[in-house]
Amino acid sequence: MEIKGTTKITGVFGYPVSHSLSPLFQNAAFQHLGLNYVYIPFEVRPEDLKEAVNAIKIFNWVGINITIPHKKEVLKYLDELDKTSKILGVVNTIHNINGKLKGYTTDGDGFISSLKEDGKFNPERKNVFIIGAGGSSYAISGALIKSKINSIFLTNRTYENSVKLREHLIKNLKFKNIEIIEFEKRNDEKIWQNIDLLVNTTSVGMKKNDPLLIEKKNIEKVKFVYDIVYNRKTELLKSAEDLKIPNLDGISMLIYQGAISFEIWTSKKAPIDIMKKAIYKKIKI
Ligand SMILES: NC(=O)c1ccc[n+]([C@@H]2O[C@H](COP(=O)([O-])OP(=O)(O)OC[C@H]3O[C@@H](n4cnc5c(N)ncnc54)[C@H](OP(=O)(O)O)[C@@H]3O)[C@@H](O)[C@H]2O)c1
Repeated sequence: MEIKGTTKITGVFGYPVSHSLSPLFQNAAFQHLGLNYVYIPFEVRPEDLKEAVNAIKIFNWVGINITIPHKKEVLKYLDELDKTSKILGVVNTIHNINGKLKGYTTDGDGFISSLKEDGKFNPERKNVFIIGAGGSSYAISGALIKSKINSIFLTNRTYENSVKLREHLIKNLKFKNIEIIEFEKRNDEKIWQNIDLLVNTTSVGMKKNDPLLIEKKNIEKVKFVYDIVYNRKTELLKSAEDLKIPNLDGISMLIYQGAISFEIWTSKKAPIDIMKKAIYKKIKI
């Protein structure tokens, strides 16, 4: 990649950010299409976020991804938000449009594209069991509702957070078919009779000795398992594989949400296969 005076700059703000996999596949995609763009990770401390966002305007960068811990905080420094970001109150992509910064959130749509394209699973009219009520659960549950699922069973370690998510979905998406399952009761067999899709949106599984939150006898009953964790093969994914249940890990979602950012910045169709090749060459989970 040749850096010239005209090279367009994109990247990611996070803290920490050194683990980010996005430069791998975004730069491969720019290169493949012969675009004079570069993607750079920037470590931005929370107290520096305002100035870092201002730098996007000062240096006329094309766009920036936003990751942990800035996804909520960054909203107050933007000029405009897309509909989903307004509803969810989070942004993971900024586009600099002639000096005005517009925020988007691509996690939810990225999840759905990954599920349909890589997983060959259509969530329409399906019953979904979701573990977790953090930021990514808001994006994923909202996107699943837009994809016309039938119902959500929601469980979360902190009960109040699942109540907040349920209220949010009722208020903003007018979706009422959500049952909260107390975390301690998540393995009750009767819940699992009609679940089609199981999604883990928690960070459980990122660490080596993290537990399996759903018992195998219940995993066995579902038609598809999705774990959005992307740094290792989780116990949940290992169990799905043992049971021969179709499944996907978080790398697929990571690529599809990044592909949407790529398309926002370049107005070109993202070369998904090239992005996949770039990431799987380095990482196999
Ligand atoms: N593949 C992708 O593209 C992609 C995109 C975004 C995020 N992710 C991954 O998704 C995971 C969650 O991210 P996030 O942004 O949603 O984080 P977050 O907003 O901090 O939410 C974390 C969630 O995990 C739960 N949790 C944490 N530790 C737990 C434990 N020991 N037992 C049970 N539940 C626990 C939290 O429950 P409480 O409410 O009780 O705290 C909460 O529901 C991370 O691993 C992240 O890397 C992947």
